Amino acid sequence: MEIVILKSADEIATVVGDAIEDLLRTHEAPVLGLATGSSPLPVYREIVRRHTEEGLSLAHARAFLLDEYVGLPHGHPESYREVIRRELTGLVDIDESRVQGPDGGSDDIASAGRRYDEAIRAAGGVDLQLLGIGSDGHIAFNEPGSSLASRTRLKTLTEQTRQDNARFFDHVDDVPYHVLTQGLGTIMEARHLVLVATGAGKAEAVAAMVEGPVSQLCPGSVTQMHPHVTVLLDEDAAAGL
Ligand code: GLP
Repeated sequence: MEIVILKSADEIATVVGDAIEDLLRTHEAPVLGLATGSSPLPVYREIVRRHTEEGLSLAHARAFLLDEYVGLPHGHPESYREVIRRELTGLVDIDESRVQGPDGGSDDIASAGRRYDEAIRAAGGVDLQLLGIGSDGHIAFNEPGSSLASRTRLKTLTEQTRQDNARFFDHVDDVPYHVLTQGLGTIMEARHLVLVATGAGKAEAVAAMVEGPVSQLCPGSVTQMHPHVTVLLDEDAAAGL
């Protein structure tokens, strides 16, 4: 695990932007794994800037989202598919048909999960997976207690995660209870994991992920078993190391 501690979210965005640009320029058919939440937003702004000002193209890339709420109507502004369209894919030259998220609106969530894993495999797997971490150590929506070998499946959010995500909704009661999320086993198949965490609110989760035991209690700790992980932190998020 490579730990990089930088001064600011903007510096982190530059370093991650370099890694994504390198992938886009050197691979004929790059596959990006995209995360939602606030942490990756500076990275997306940096990619959009490089596209607009420097002609960086994503037209040949494919992208897979980590997770999706279950039960939000199609096109809901806080569905992760819409968030990614707004923050990244709608602002660059990737065709939206090349961007896929778990189908949280499916009538058959279990088979939607299996189909999603198959789609990732059929695309050749994810080259670079961006990740954030929840304040309870979750990655994607794999809450504490998730099997370390899990595949894309239905999960129930903890009360803490619903409270954390309430800021995106009018009221905490509007936050869905269920999600369809890539499993930890699915995420571990990506060739390079790039995890971004900023702010003091993440310090405890980051310390458990990096220095704690590999445990279902801190789902992010499974990344200790991955051969190519880069963790980018600001000083506040690194304070517990
Ligand atoms: C959500 C997402 C995660 C994300 C986490 C932290 O739960 N499913 O992928 O890592 O929020 O979000 P933030 O970066 O806003 O703190």
